[in-house]
Amino acid sequence: MKKYKIALIKGDGIGPEIIDEAVKVLDAVASRYDFDFDYEELLMGGIAYDITGDPLPQETVTKSLNSDAVLFGAIGGEKWDSLPREKRPESGLLRFRKELGVYANLRPAVVYDELVNASSLKPEVVKGVDLMVVRELIGGIYFGEPKGRDDFKGYNTMVYTRPEIERIAHQAFKIAMNRSKKVCSVDKANVLDVSQLWRDVVTEVAQEYPEVELSHMYVDNAAMQLIRDPRQFDVILTGNIFGDILSDEASMLSGSIGLLPSASTGDKVGVYEPIHGSAPDIAGQGIANPIATISSASMMLRYELGEKEAADRIDNAIKQALAEGYRTKDLAAFDAKEVCSTSEMGSIIANYAVK
Ligand code: IPM
Ligand code: MG
Repeated sequence: MKKYKIALIKGDGIGPEIIDEAVKVLDAVASRYDFDFDYEELLMGGIAYDITGDPLPQETVTKSLNSDAVLFGAIGGEKWDSLPREKRPESGLLRFRKELGVYANLRPAVVYDELVNASSLKPEVVKGVDLMVVRELIGGIYFGEPKGRDDFKGYNTMVYTRPEIERIAHQAFKIAMNRSKKVCSVDKANVLDVSQLWRDVVTEVAQEYPEVELSHMYVDNAAMQLIRDPRQFDVILTGNIFGDILSDEASMLSGSIGLLPSASTGDKVGVYEPIHGSAPDIAGQGIANPIATISSASMMLRYELGEKEAADRIDNAIKQALAEGYRTKDLAAFDAKEVCSTSEMGSIIANYAVK
């Protein structure tokens, strides 16, 4: 029997509740196959700071690098917002991404037919949306030097090198080959030199993928087009900060930020996490939507462990739960037949996944 070593980082806020549901579903599907999971819980974020004084203990990095995949909940909360920047949960997360070398952040935005009314946009605009933001995750203005601040001046630097652009572009084109073979690269080349390099290098890499249709769009226009006509997009390739912003925007097409998963991959171990945050305001109440995390576990099976059939089972189980009218509180107003708790939703999906 194959045993996959999974590093579990539950983190803060609703992190522990939603990870528990993903584990429930993973164990359920595993019972149908010739593999099994060996979980190890690791500390990160505010809880890690509280216990060890460091939002990212070295042990978490070392053990994550030794695992087959990392399943991640969420980190952060007001409680830690006034700490010095390097002690904050967010700094731990950025260091973690860098140490694991996860340069490609895949953030799908899919509108489930059952929830087409949950979006703040008109159903006829969002019905059928199925796009993927491919965000560069360990470069750009998040990490560029020089950076700093004093009382008068604050500054960060947006830097990309050719190899950094090439590797993320290859990822986007490869993903597009398995989808509708369309890539839209988003930049600000009308103003920024770094974006002009981005555009030139992406155009060069595109030569190696003659079947893929490449377009370019300025980020301000892309933000507008995503709301005007989101179905025009398939793969959106972009840098760190533009991807941060556009992926939050894209997530709202689907109605609830509690639905969408993400994968961060590089040359080492991948990290799978919901795109939403730790939602401290609803933590511990059993009302968080676990679907984004369960769906992230499915991405982990599909992209990291190569267990496509098991991943399909989970994806279908999520669709079925939604089609049957099961809703957590965030989606209770949208065609709910039954409103359920975090853990009930996990159990319902786990049951469908093994049928
Ligand atoms: C995200 C988050 C992070 C980011 C924060 C928490 C550092 O917004 O994963 O999108 O900006 O990358
Ligand atoms: Mg973000």
